[in-house]
Amino acid sequence: LGFGSSRKRSLTVRAMDCVSSTAILSLLLGCVGIFSLFKLLQWLRMKAHLQDAVVVITGATSGLGRECAKVFHAAGAKLVLCGRNREALEQLAKELAASRASEVQTHTPRMVTFDLADTGATVAAAAEILQCFGHVDVLVNNAGVSYRGTILDTPVDVDRRVMETNYFGPIALTKALLPSMVQRRRGHVVAISSVQGKISVPFRSAYAASKHATQAFCDCLRAELEQHGVAVTVLSPGYIRTNLSLNAIAADGSRYGVMDETTAQGRVPADVARDVLAAVAKKKEDVVLASLAPSLAIYLRTLAPALFFRLMASRARKEQKPKDS
Ligand SMILES: NC(=O)c1ccc[n+]([C@@H]2O[C@H](COP(=O)([O-])OP(=O)(O)OC[C@H]3O[C@@H](n4cnc5c(N)ncnc54)[C@H](OP(=O)(O)O)[C@@H]3O)[C@@H](O)[C@H]2O)c1
Repeated sequence: LGFGSSRKRSLTVRAMDCVSSTAILSLLLGCVGIFSLFKLLQWLRMKAHLQDAVVVITGATSGLGRECAKVFHAAGAKLVLCGRNREALEQLAKELAASRASEVQTHTPRMVTFDLADTGATVAAAAEILQCFGHVDVLVNNAGVSYRGTILDTPVDVDRRVMETNYFGPIALTKALLPSMVQRRRGHVVAISSVQGKISVPFRSAYAASKHATQAFCDCLRAELEQHGVAVTVLSPGYIRTNLSLNAIAADGSRYGVMDETTAQGRVPADVARDVLAAVAKKKEDVVLASLAPSLAIYLRTLAPALFFRLMASRARKEQKPKDS
């Protein structure tokens, strides 16, 4: 009898084990299902946001801007490609036309050439941009120039040149396009800033200042324009493998012309462009696209500023030595 009841008990325990593991498995499958459904809905919303949307990309001739053009084109956006070099834009347009895009319907891009450092030309270009498709849904302020030099050796004219391209040009373009966005109660302003818009590293003063100014402007813009239906996204990437350091302005105003090791080892621009597309589609407000070290440095600047300043001073001493010797 005793043997029979203990066997019964062990059978009951086994049956309960079986039921609970089935319940856990169903729960897990349920979670995976809900997660997949959520991802699918997100993807559909993303597609809907960008399909046929008029997207303006500055600095589309090179690096990240060029790759952004490819991913937004493939997502079905109506592109207005902006840059200074008409030939480079035409070459890109040809490549886009030749690319076998997915199942999405793609559009022939338009081109507008202007120099962001020339405010008059930028405002005139905004009118031309508006004429391309009648309105603008997304403005991607991507064009930019970097800087390398010591503050002691750099005349203020060089700082001004960097600010004109990275700050005054993009805000002139944004301000010229905003009234139409506000009138339609629809629009999205995207800034390609940098980790250096959050923290400043030595020998990049003008660049870091221009990116900090961009961040500040965009934070005010987001607050002021929310009530008008205009979204603002600031993206702050770490190093990307582009021509940015080659094209940087040196302290004497000349082209720096060096591919920095950090830039050469940076992320592939096509990958960053995909992250830009996702952030825009999800209407994210502020995104840092960087590895662990720079991301931690941003927190360190806020939580332990004294330590951050000491680290930067030591970095400046180390980087200055080879230049001095
Ligand atoms: N590469 C990085 O490590 C890195 C990291 C963080 C953020 N970013 C940001 O990413 C953005 C794109 O840079 P990138 O890395 O792709 O560098 P890039 O290859 O040098 O491209 C810069 C683009 O900006 C355009 N541009 C420069 N000055 C201009 C002006 N005065 N008027 C109009 N267009 C102008 C260039 O056009 P032209 O062909 O006419 O020169 C080019 O298309 C920049 O805002 C940069 O600050 C880059």
